[in-house]
Amino acid sequence: MTELPTPDLIAVDAGGWGLTWAADSTGRLRQIGLGPEGHTAQLDVDAIWYPEAFPTWGGGDPFRAAPLRITHANGLTTTRLVVERVSRESINGSELVIVVCRDELVDLTVEHHLRTHPPSGILEQWVEIHHDQAEPITLADYDSIGPLLLTSESAEICHFGGGGWATEWAWNTELLTTGTKTLDSFGGVQPHLQRSPLLLVSPQGPSTESSGEVLGLSIVWGGNTRFALDVRRTWDTSDGLNLRLRAGANPVGAEYRLDPNERFVTPTVAWTWSSAGRATITERFHAWSRARVLRDPDRLRPLVVNNWEAVFFDFDHDRLVDLMDRTADLGADLFLLDDGWFGNNHPRNDDNAGLGDWEVNTSKLSGGLAGLADAAAERDIRFGIWLEPEMVNPESDLYEAHPDWIVRTEREPIEHRQQHYLDPLRPEVRDFEFGVFDQTLTPNPGISYVKWDANRPITDPGSEMLSQDQQSNIWIDHVWATWAVMADVARAHPEVELMLCASGGGRVDHGSLRWFHEFWTSDNTDPVVRARLQWACSMFFPASVMAAHVTRWGERPLDFACAVALSARFGFDLDLASLSSDELAVCRRAVAIARRTQPLVQHGRLHRLISPVEGDDTSRACLAYSAEDRLSAVVFAYQLEASTSQTPAVWFDGLEADRRYAVVESELGTTDDSMAATPAEALVVTGAELAGSDGRDSAPLNWTLEAPCTAIIWEITAIA
Ligand code: DGJ
Repeated sequence: MTELPTPDLIAVDAGGWGLTWAADSTGRLRQIGLGPEGHTAQLDVDAIWYPEAFPTWGGGDPFRAAPLRITHANGLTTTRLVVERVSRESINGSELVIVVCRDELVDLTVEHHLRTHPPSGILEQWVEIHHDQAEPITLADYDSIGPLLLTSESAEICHFGGGGWATEWAWNTELLTTGTKTLDSFGGVQPHLQRSPLLLVSPQGPSTESSGEVLGLSIVWGGNTRFALDVRRTWDTSDGLNLRLRAGANPVGAEYRLDPNERFVTPTVAWTWSSAGRATITERFHAWSRARVLRDPDRLRPLVVNNWEAVFFDFDHDRLVDLMDRTADLGADLFLLDDGWFGNNHPRNDDNAGLGDWEVNTSKLSGGLAGLADAAAERDIRFGIWLEPEMVNPESDLYEAHPDWIVRTEREPIEHRQQHYLDPLRPEVRDFEFGVFDQTLTPNPGISYVKWDANRPITDPGSEMLSQDQQSNIWIDHVWATWAVMADVARAHPEVELMLCASGGGRVDHGSLRWFHEFWTSDNTDPVVRARLQWACSMFFPASVMAAHVTRWGERPLDFACAVALSARFGFDLDLASLSSDELAVCRRAVAIARRTQPLVQHGRLHRLISPVEGDDTSRACLAYSAEDRLSAVVFAYQLEASTSQTPAVWFDGLEADRRYAVVESELGTTDDSMAATPAEALVVTGAELAGSDGRDSAPLNWTLEAPCTAIIWEITAIA
């Protein structure tokens, strides 16, 4: 038998987990190890017996869909890659590993890029493809990752959303059964309304907050995404099952024609592997988000009062100034003027007209934006504004002047919310979109916050900027083009805080977020739904970016709505003029609590204590945030619905065992205003007592809630 050379191992230590690849004797890239010790794997048998690290269509496995499927210029539909070279580079403590593969027959290069972030344990992985064939090639599938995992019969996945508008982050846990499960999103502009690009996979069976193997994956992409989970049995049942996990941009309807010498870069997939349950996944994604994604991660987000659900389109200068008076009186930081402030020939008095005409409606707002910004400054609050730069109503000056600017085909374009999507592949459209910001912000330095909205999907995918055979490239190209505008806006106005919104949380992904300070988590602000929605979102995103406003949605008690919003980036979307004096007192107390607790909520460490989405009784939720120095914490307890189980014990293990802490129950609901000034008497406990690690069997944080829609907030401070 010929002795085969031992291949070089390509080990990637992602921080607490990792992977090892190697080229086998034929040059194919094999996956030698993956998981907690994946980066230390050694060959037990010849590399040729290991699974392919990133199969290609026609590359050797005729039985499964492959992460990469290409039709080459000469009509060849198969791709067979061999490893050409590997490079490694250290950049500021991270490592960038690039594995360059070439097709055996045709001119095609496929590069795997793996970038570590050791402090968090998140691995960023993507693929870059280029060629020099005589004609364009067609990319039919172009996933970013395609690892193989061993799984058990009880393997589970948890995915989010799936129902469209106002159902973002709906929690779906299910068994990972044999066959292929596809979790994809469509629509292009606000795809994550349909399905979040984030996923938890527990390959060996259910994981909990603190136990079990679990992978967390984020497709860092503001367009359509796809997870495909292909689970197979093997003939040898002792091997369990295996899962080929593909993740990346959704290629359905989006075949990409790639010209010679152009580079196709897939979205990055950011992923990690925990052997200690989901809390570790969350810690890693929060740390990575703060380090690699968020703008101004250390800046405390403002306490916003938005006028949308308060007055919708029904306002004028005086009504807004009256709301500003009340905003200032309440002690909030910023008044946000939402939709409806623009359009003169086609006034934006409802959602039928005006989009695209970004000049102030002078009959509504006699003093212009400057008048409102001045009014805000006089009241010592900041002023923010709503823009939807990518859209146009047919009833607008813009559409009359440039009907050709929209994304469409030769068919009659479909209207959605009476509006069309401007084609960002047109340079003049990108200039226009940037100009919408620049011409609003530059003359009005008093505007320090913008909500960027996008309220329709792509229905007619086509662009005059693309050749006939490249029309489906729009699904990829529109994301890069829009990100370019977002990046320009962020660069040109670095001090202006930006909120990312797309009919709610339609663009909540780690890619788009890079140019924003926060996102509008969902239009669904019913606090019972919100508590669950924020719970799910917290798996991957810190509370500082999760805007949570108190509204009337669901007609829940206001103190309860405040308590739920207080556990994320707190604000209001209420008609402050319609509040009763008791309700106003509740809002004032909520603001006082926000002042004390938002630094912890936004920058602290999250602890999810009692789940409202899993287990036999999902009627309650409890979560906490602790300070990095472990000197303070805040615990939120919510009774969402009537319970079917016994009162729970709230154990909280986030503080110093030996230290003594004062625990104060914040009085949100009381109608006695003096309570805010003199909070209830403190309970004094040690960190060990709070955690139950001193052996006690009754928890000091006493769950006294019974009625649905009630809440407790415990503020915990170390005693000197
Ligand atoms: C959808 C957003 O989610 C709402 O908050 C609001 O800004 C409306 N658009 C305005 O049209």
